[in-house]
Amino acid sequence: MFDRLAERYDLFNHLTSLGMATGWRRETLKPVRPGMRVLDLGCGTGDLMLEAIPLAGLEGEVVGLDFSPNMLAVARRRVEQMEPNEYAPVRFVEDKAENLPIEDKPYDVVVSGFVLRNLYENIDKVLEGVFRSLKTGGQVSFLDITEPDQKGWLLLWQTYMNTMVALYGKLLFGKDYPAFYLTESARRFLKAGEFVQKLKETGFQNIRVKSFMFGAVRLYQAKK
Ligand SMILES: C[S@@+](CC[C@H](N)C(=O)[O-])C[C@H]1O[C@@H](n2cnc3c(N)ncnc32)[C@H](O)[C@@H]1O
Repeated sequence: MFDRLAERYDLFNHLTSLGMATGWRRETLKPVRPGMRVLDLGCGTGDLMLEAIPLAGLEGEVVGLDFSPNMLAVARRRVEQMEPNEYAPVRFVEDKAENLPIEDKPYDVVVSGFVLRNLYENIDKVLEGVFRSLKTGGQVSFLDITEPDQKGWLLLWQTYMNTMVALYGKLLFGKDYPAFYLTESARRFLKAGEFVQKLKETGFQNIRVKSFMFGAVRLYQAKK
């Protein structure tokens, strides 16, 4: 599915998040400092990576992992268009999130944007892999779509997702877009409290959750 959505994915994202995704991504990248090694899990077309690269600076490194070759091709193209001189070196890895750790040298930060829901069947394995991939003191910063807790907002959100978002999806991707995928994947994934518990069980500490748009999007941050 992601392979088929790659070319128009950025436009879809921008339209459906009402332009707010940029601000959420900035929050997600707050733990990134100069000199850090950063892994972007499920980097897609590279939205998070592109912003992480200048933050990590020349002494840092940014690795983008994704299992979709077409998503990676778009991300590569976008990175190649950047001014190279003062930015962190970048690498792409075509692999599954379930296969972490993928290298021996640990990361300072593992970020992800709108990926966790897609990994619901293997979330324990993925979190364990992330944990093992981090330095002690290393951080995770995971952004994703979630169901709002309050009934009224949930209803409004479901209506928006199943009408406007589904319509954008159909207009941009045609039959390749599964109209109710976003609502369905958010519904079946762990609720915020359950995900926090999962992070604790994996060994993470200092867990913080930030809510955007009345809980329609959440940012989970924690330390190893
Ligand atoms: C909704 S997109 C998000 C892309 C990007 N992180 C962003 O913020 O726009 C989800 C991405 O996760 C990738 N993905 C889904 N399941 C994966 C898995 N098991 N292993 C690696 N990548 C995966 C998809 O290929 C896709 O690029």
